[in-house]
Amino acid sequence: MTDTKITLPEAEIPTHFYNIAPDLPTPLPPPLHPGTRQPIGPADLAPIFPMALIRQEVSVEPAVEIPDEVREIYRLYRPSPVFRARALEAALDTPAHIYYKSEHVSPVGSHKLNTALVQAWANKQEGVKRLATETGAGQWGSALACACRLMGLECMVYMVRVSYDTKPYRRIMIQSYGGQIVPSPSPLTQAGRAILAEHPDSPGSLGIAISEAVEDAAGRDDTKYSLGSVLNHVILHQTIIGQEAKKQMELAGEYPDILIGCHGGGSNFAGLTFPFLEDKLKGRRPALRAIAVEPASCPTLTKGPREYDFGDTAGLTPLLMMHTLGHNFVPPPVHSGGLRYHGSAPLVSHLLAAGMIEAEAYDQRSVFESAVQFARCEGTIPAPESAHAVHAAMRQALLARESGEAKVILFNLSGHGNFDMAAYDAFLSGQMDGGV
Ligand SMILES: Cc1ncc(COP(=O)(O)O)c(C=O)c1O
Repeated sequence: MTDTKITLPEAEIPTHFYNIAPDLPTPLPPPLHPGTRQPIGPADLAPIFPMALIRQEVSVEPAVEIPDEVREIYRLYRPSPVFRARALEAALDTPAHIYYKSEHVSPVGSHKLNTALVQAWANKQEGVKRLATETGAGQWGSALACACRLMGLECMVYMVRVSYDTKPYRRIMIQSYGGQIVPSPSPLTQAGRAILAEHPDSPGSLGIAISEAVEDAAGRDDTKYSLGSVLNHVILHQTIIGQEAKKQMELAGEYPDILIGCHGGGSNFAGLTFPFLEDKLKGRRPALRAIAVEPASCPTLTKGPREYDFGDTAGLTPLLMMHTLGHNFVPPPVHSGGLRYHGSAPLVSHLLAAGMIEAEAYDQRSVFESAVQFARCEGTIPAPESAHAVHAAMRQALLARESGEAKVILFNLSGHGNFDMAAYDAFLSGQMDGGV
């Protein structure tokens, strides 16, 4: 019998990120300038991103080196364990083998620190003093605040209003790291003021908060902007998850049939799946399945068309070719704040269009039902976002029970839900609606 917890020594922390770009079946459509609608070049992005990250954004090198200083800090929590969910398997009476990669063990409780550290490091190398960003549920904001502190930068966070009000502990966490935080829409930016003038009670959205953070960065010489998902370089940094998981599954003596990740902007899903999808793209694992899971209230991949759209509400960002619900879409205030984004990573959208991955959407009550069952078997309480992956994994395990197949399922537990007790309380007390 293999271990329940499959770990790797620190010496096995990957030295390079895996870049899927050269393995894509067709090249990614380029981002377009918001004014001219012509393909943008590195100079167009220079006001808001450091050159090192812009180079990564357009890189077609198969591997990108991880800076030593970042690897040193990764030793605080990486390699993260892969768990075999034995108790859950028994509870579901399934022949499936269920594994999960546990990104919730990071100091901030999610995968977001993986990219935050690289981004803070790259900005510091180019003399940037301060980073501005948006956050939904607060996971990304707390990750960037932590990374900025560890790298010696200041951090400014625009937090989606509905989460700011319902998740005070994430705000306090950001402040504990020394970050500055305001609810978005805020009166600090033109974009925020315009929304407040029309909708004084706006619950906010990631698209609005991105507009505010981009405007903040573009307006100050000492500040650049940092994005927690969607872009190629963010996904690149998250591939550390899948690279470690591949080695861990080898130790377990198994190769996954089905990979599962929740989907907000696409980075944790891509981070887990892309290093495995390399095998599918190169013909070594043609039957490998990868499922991105989103809330039915924000069905970007399952219902949104794939077309050029802005990454933010005000139309300040380049146009990206992606599945989108429209940059003005304001999703209902469901508990999975990190999955309330109108768009999807161009890389994830591209692979969906190529038939290389799948997408599913579920209502929040079903998702929390599974999350509670998972917690009662495995101990860890999943973040509401990650609970979408838990639900889809359990569904696949039940399908395996019906078909009698011992499917190997690996999902990404992208974060813990220890600060999300209000959401669990709403579910347990019968106050939660389906969110659609
Ligand atoms: C725990 C957790 N998982 C997943 C996500 C979704 O983001 P992404 O799709 O980029 O992984 C978030 C976003 O905030 C999150 O906090």
